[in-house]
Amino acid sequence: MRRKLAAGNWKMNGLSASLTETAALLAQVSDIRAEVLICPPATLLAPMAAQVRTGALALGGQDCHPASSGAHTGDISAQMLRDAGATYVIVGHSERRADHAETDSMVRSKTEAAWAEGLRAIVCVGETEAERDADNTLAIIGGQLAGSVPDQATGENLVVAYEPVWAIGTGRTPTLDQIGEVHDFIRSRLEKRFGEGVGRSVRLLYGGSVKPGNAAEIFGVSNVDGALVGGASLKASDFSAIATALD
Ligand code: 13P
Repeated sequence: MRRKLAAGNWKMNGLSASLTETAALLAQVSDIRAEVLICPPATLLAPMAAQVRTGALALGGQDCHPASSGAHTGDISAQMLRDAGATYVIVGHSERRADHAETDSMVRSKTEAAWAEGLRAIVCVGETEAERDADNTLAIIGGQLAGSVPDQATGENLVVAYEPVWAIGTGRTPTLDQIGEVHDFIRSRLEKRFGEGVGRSVRLLYGGSVKPGNAAEIFGVSNVDGALVGGASLKASDFSAIATALD
């Protein structure tokens, strides 16, 4: 059985005042069955870790460097994330692929770095609107999966997030059939490459304009094991409603 996962990606949002939001979230999700994860900006990892000691909430980074330390000004390593209290890290988000020219092979190296530190990696894949319009969605996703996911994947160390670029922050979402088609495809690719046992145990998240109002129907789609939520994860009441819809 795959444990459902509600993951919040705060992106470049959140100051120390936002810790009140985490406190509210902790209270709201204390007895739900789904796993709840917040990936705040790195500056908030340590104070949040102090807040959530009870273990009701998991914490993650939003990116990591392939190296564990060294002369890489402004970067953060998987070791640092773990040291600050993270157990997860998002890698290959489309905003990093676009803003920082991250390639599949870089995402793969980052994933390996995360695994070397015992972090679970949430590897993001997703097509642009032009790629969908050109009927290239599955080819793009297949290529990103093959290039970004290392060979040592297990159901423990890997989560895959399908985030269509055109659905992020836009209020637009694919149809449920379109989400199902991509998630079934990702599942079958993972089974083929890693074997049925591993392929079936990896959790697949949908991301892109998930809100309290559409979460339940998206969670009803086959092979959707949760969500990677941006904007709606910033407000405890919205994010806890999404997490509760997974139960
Ligand atoms: P939104 O939920 O704001 O569309 O963002 C999705 C996302 O990019 C999560 O990683």
